[in-house]
Amino acid sequence: MPSESLPSAPSTGAVSAPTSQILKEGGTIEPVREILWGEMAGVRKYESAEEIPAEMRRLIIRLMVVQADTEFASIQQHRPWLDSAPSLEDRWIEARIVADEARHGLQACRILRDFGEEGQKYIDELLTKKEGEHKLDAFNMKFERWSDVGAFTCFVDRVGVYQLRAFQECAYGPLARAMPLMLSEEQLHLNFGLNVLRRMVQQGPKYAGSKEEAQEAVQKWFPRALDMFGHSNSDTSRKAIELGLKRWTNEEARARYLKEIAPLISAIGLELPAPEYDRHIL
Ligand SMILES: [Fe+2]
Ligand SMILES: [Fe+2]
Repeated sequence: MPSESLPSAPSTGAVSAPTSQILKEGGTIEPVREILWGEMAGVRKYESAEEIPAEMRRLIIRLMVVQADTEFASIQQHRPWLDSAPSLEDRWIEARIVADEARHGLQACRILRDFGEEGQKYIDELLTKKEGEHKLDAFNMKFERWSDVGAFTCFVDRVGVYQLRAFQECAYGPLARAMPLMLSEEQLHLNFGLNVLRRMVQQGPKYAGSKEEAQEAVQKWFPRALDMFGHSNSDTSRKAIELGLKRWTNEEARARYLKEIAPLISAIGLELPAPEYDRHIL
């Protein structure tokens, strides 16, 4: 429990912070020191791993292992394109993306390190994972064509942004504070991905691939991206909200994502399949 005397936590998940501190849609206004939602709303955030209750500790570790795993996996996926992307600028952005993902993996591992030997054990395991051994399907698939790079960064990195936004202002201060920089870096990745697909549609082989190839990549990656939000009615996601770690259920986050992505894809002349198409996790 937090050591300072602060307002007692309400029994429901209602946001109870002062109006000036209320979270805005899709993000926060500015960093605040109190937990803003869940069972502990109004209580001061946890600032050190030692004071975190056991259940929250387990969940943070689990979430950070998955987070770090996706960051390290995407480096393996991007790697072959560092020196074979179609243009010099694309190669440079590929190099930037790889550097960013390495930093994000490091950031997630720093949170794991807060949890001492237990966290270090997970880091050691993460560093030995090879292609095909990762937790989520989207991170075990190769980038066979340049369109895969475009669609992956457009769809899958965008899911990552929703996961990171869910941690913004979460109950563990060090985790919440890591989010703004990660989010701004991810924004570059997903804008780049959409732009790759747009250039394929508009310029075809003059740039790379074709509209058909871009559409095939949409069919390939969009379902895997939707799967990444996890099962609807997941007890873990509900628990993460109660504990003040995540802001939305899997289904709520997936619905927000669909609303954002649909107009972007139709504006570049491509079509999204139905949300149920080729799904593995519903
Ligand atoms: Fe990342
Ligand atoms: Fe990324």
